[in-house]
Amino acid sequence: MRMAFIGGGNMGEAMIRGILDRGTAKAREIRVSDISEARRSHLAQKYGLAVTDSNRSATERAEVIILAIKPGSLPQVMEELKGSLKAGQTVISIAAGVTLARLSQGLGRKSVVRAMPNMPAQIGQGMTVWTATEEVNEEDRRRARLVLEALGRQAFVPDERFIDMATAVSGSGPAYVFLIIESFVDAAVRIGLPRDLAQELVLETVLGSAHLVQKSDRHPAELRNLVTSPGGTTAEGLHVLEEGSLRALLGRAIIAAYEKAKALRGE
Ligand SMILES: NC(=O)c1ccc[n+]([C@@H]2O[C@H](COP(=O)([O-])OP(=O)(O)OC[C@H]3O[C@@H](n4cnc5c(N)ncnc54)[C@H](OP(=O)(O)O)[C@@H]3O)[C@@H](O)[C@H]2O)c1
Repeated sequence: MRMAFIGGGNMGEAMIRGILDRGTAKAREIRVSDISEARRSHLAQKYGLAVTDSNRSATERAEVIILAIKPGSLPQVMEELKGSLKAGQTVISIAAGVTLARLSQGLGRKSVVRAMPNMPAQIGQGMTVWTATEEVNEEDRRRARLVLEALGRQAFVPDERFIDMATAVSGSGPAYVFLIIESFVDAAVRIGLPRDLAQELVLETVLGSAHLVQKSDRHPAELRNLVTSPGGTTAEGLHVLEEGSLRALLGRAIIAAYEKAKALRGE
């Protein structure tokens, strides 16, 4: 599949790595346009990609075009590309907060895909939520799915409002999990565990518990009850977490992030 990346920064490179690893496209089929000379030479040397500083020339023969620049750079890039994109090209933007309406208007085309990946995409374990305008046909959707699968798992949503919700959940989510891991490890060190052992215990506990919820048919509350013996240690710990309103706090955090996501897109 011939692809063009406009922006080969953190997320652009993560996508390129995933795409090459999975064989979605070969290195000779990918062209990257980036204003940074350092990024261009890094991508050319590391992956053997064709690079350019011209956004228009990168997109000329591409079947899929990925806009992987910061939202602030998007208006200028859209202005450059306007009028040059062809009907058979699939255009995917990963710019946070930039709506389908703004993309359509900026690019002067009705068919556009908007995706919201998250940080674990850097190691192929991301969760990407995406949507598309009505004009995006089945072939475009198939291509978008293939490309986004290179970042990990993907889920199509028919309603764009779910993208703002996903921004608050899976987009910002890694930061919440990092904070939980950090505090969990610090607490383990505080009671006397060596830091490296504490980190291993916490990470395996978080990963193992998430996998168990994913594989089990049981509700998380049921799994929690199973591990909570009457009068035992887990009951003591859980009581403190409930007393500190962990559940309500998490609820407020997600709502605050969602409100911010809506405000950033101007609602
Ligand atoms: N990183 C994440 O976890 C994450 C998660 C979800 C969504 N996103 C979205 O992904 C997009 C890319 O993020 P990122 O972290 O990969 O950003 P980044 O590392 O800054 O990458 C963007 C690249 O594009 C280059 N660039 C800037 N203006 C350009 C232009 N006019 N034409 C061509 N290239 C240009 C930048 O060069 P300079 O550095 O010289 O400006 C940089 O190399 C953003 O819109 C962000 O909202 C990122």
